[in-house]
Amino acid sequence: MFETKYIKHYFNDLFNWNELENLINIRPLMTTKRVQLLNLSKRFEWVNSIWSSDPNCIPPSLIRFLLDEIVIYFSDMSRATKNINNFAKTIEDEYGRQVDAHIYVCRNLQIEHPFGVHYDFSDNVIVQCEGITNFKVWEEVKNVSRDKVNTKMQIDSEPILDVNMEPGDTIWIPRHYPHQATSLTPRLSVSFPLSSDVNISNSREDRNWITLK
Ligand SMILES: [Fe+2]
Repeated sequence: MFETKYIKHYFNDLFNWNELENLINIRPLMTTKRVQLLNLSKRFEWVNSIWSSDPNCIPPSLIRFLLDEIVIYFSDMSRATKNINNFAKTIEDEYGRQVDAHIYVCRNLQIEHPFGVHYDFSDNVIVQCEGITNFKVWEEVKNVSRDKVNTKMQIDSEPILDVNMEPGDTIWIPRHYPHQATSLTPRLSVSFPLSSDVNISNSREDRNWITLK
């Protein structure tokens, strides 16, 4: 049973700015399918080197520029580091569902969060990695449907959870529970969305970690 909860210092040192720095410098990893640019209204074009194996990889200078302007998350990152891979496996084993890792970065405190108060269609475990983020969670919305607006909601009731997440703090937010994340400092967090009810045995991510010595 996936329930709302919050545990301080549940997973310290899951991921940090240095590890993110390494990932975002691997140009072939930064594909337009993996780099999710929120609040972005512009289109960008670039010229690729003749050695590039994939023309849809965002150049590092553009990634650098965007990181300070908008909220970005990187999807399909559940094998980004050994720690993230292992934590994803822990959640998969506990709930019997498939898990991804979304790495969220917000370095611009002036911009409004693109989703505002919203709910998701998947259960989520979120680990704060760097900085401080205020999270509020409200009671479950009944009768949800994909046709209804699930972002920028106005809710009059008091939140059931209102916490300032510091590095290592972890929150479990069930699907259909409205929530709002407000960055109080530049922040880095990893969000682990769970597949709805798909049996994990159908197509489980290979969680073996390659070591060479
Ligand atoms: Fe969310």
